[in-house]
Parts: sequence; C-alpha cells; structure tokens
Amino acid sequence: MPPFRQQVSSLTQEASTFIHSPKPSRVEELFGFGGWFDRTFGKQPGERLLTWRAALSIFVQRNGSLIVETGCQRQIEDLGDGSSTRIIAMLLHKLDNGILHSVDISAENLNSAKTVIYQLQAKEALRFHLVDRVRFHLSDSVEFLRKFDSSIDFLYLDSCDYFEDEPGRSICQAHQLKEIEAAFDKLSAGAVVLLDDNDFPHGGKTKLSKQFLSNRGWFCILDWTQSLWIRSIGE
Ligand SMILES: C[S@@+](CC[C@H](N)C(=O)[O-])C[C@H]1O[C@@H](n2cnc3c(N)ncnc32)[C@H](O)[C@@H]1O
Repeated sequence: MPPFRQQVSSLTQEASTFIHSPKPSRVEELFGFGGWFDRTFGKQPGERLLTWRAALSIFVQRNGSLIVETGCQRQIEDLGDGSSTRIIAMLLHKLDNGILHSVDISAENLNSAKTVIYQLQAKEALRFHLVDRVRFHLSDSVEFLRKFDSSIDFLYLDSCDYFEDEPGRSICQAHQLKEIEAAFDKLSAGAVVLLDDNDFPHGGKTKLSKQFLSNRGWFCILDWTQSLWIRSIGE
C-alpha cells in the first residue's frame, strides 16, 4: 500500500480539477461543502461517510455511469450495513444518468432493497423515476460478475457478512477475491472500486482482494471501514 502522504497527494490531484474551476463544477455542486451529498445524507453514512463521498465524487469526475454492487441493502433503514442501494440510487437519480446493477443471493433481501427504492420514489415525490435507475439480480455474485458483459465504472463489493473466526473468515475473504477476479477485466479505465468491511481484525473481508488490486497496479486512496481503490488514468 502506498504511504499515507502519497495517498493524500492522489486525492488532492483528483480534487484539484474542480477546486480551480471558475464556476462551480457538477462535482462541487454535488460533493462540495453544503452540496447535494451533505443536504441529502448529512452525517448519516457514519463511519462510511468519507469513503462514500470520495468514491462517488471520483465516479462523477470520471464520467462514470454503470455501477455494480454485490450485496444489496437488506433493511429499510440500515445505516449499520451501509445503505448502499439507497445512496447509489439517489446519486444516479440526481445525475439523471446511469444504472445500478444490484446483485444478491437472497430473494428476501432483494425484496427489501426494492421496497427501499419504491418507498423513496413515493416519499420524495421524485421527478424522475428512481426505480428505472436500479436493476435487481437474484444470483450468486461471483456467477453474476463472470457473466456480466458491460463495462463497470464503479464496483462495490459488500456481499457476505464478515466473520472473524474460522472458517467463516477465510470463506468471506476468498469470496471477495473471487468477485474482484471475476469483475477485473470488465472494469473501465477510470473505474472506482470500493470494498466494504475492511477495517476488522484479521484483515476483514478485503484482505485478499486488496492484495489482488495492489499486485495489478491499483492504489488505495482511503482505507477505513471501506477501502477505496483507483488507478491512474491519462498517463
Ligand atoms: C452486508 S449485506 C449488504 C449490505 C448493503 N451493501 C448495504 O450497504 O446496506 C450482505 C448481503 O450479501 C448477500 N450475499 C451473501 N452471500 C452472497 C453471494 N454469494 N452472492 C450474492 N450476495 C450474497 C446477503 O444476502 C446480504 O444481503
């Protein structure tokens, strides 16, 4: 993993594209202080606040449109797990662009995520159809990613729960590795990869997938509850 100073310098480079622009850029409107992200979520994402903000901001800066998440939001209000389906869908709705493919092995959990999206559509009286921004897939995530045939701009890996004890720990670490292996060739040049359940004893779910990305020239720019990875573009 690159030293902290290098990680900060990469982030600063990404940020400089909108800091110096004469009028507020789309990214600044969305992710700048008091912008859309702050107004919509406030501090709600909790320990995932910084990584969501940075990951989604880079996705927008790099003109991404296609997002895949493994492991959908399984409860209506689920800030403990992350609320990923809601957060991503709200961004795509705001952009009025892009598709989220949300894959989960549990029909019950997918139904909960669908309910989240339909309730948001109704509650917020949204102008556009939020529901059209999300496609739900009932499948094992590795099988889904192996068959997936579009270019992925943002990959969020959060299937399985993390178990600190064996054999659960090795099973979920190996599963996330299989996910990134299956998705790797489909990642677009400017893709963002966000890995959940990172900052846990014995390496969390991300232990093997981080090594996989690092070995292939990707670098980590934030490493907290979620681990955020990108690669350089345009060099
Ligand atoms: C931690 S939860 C996801 C939380 C969600 N990303 C959020 O932010 O609220 C993990 C989900 O992964 C799903 N899951 C477990 N094993 C899976 C597999 N092999 N393939 C796809 N989904 C799986 C579970 O059904 C569960 O809904």
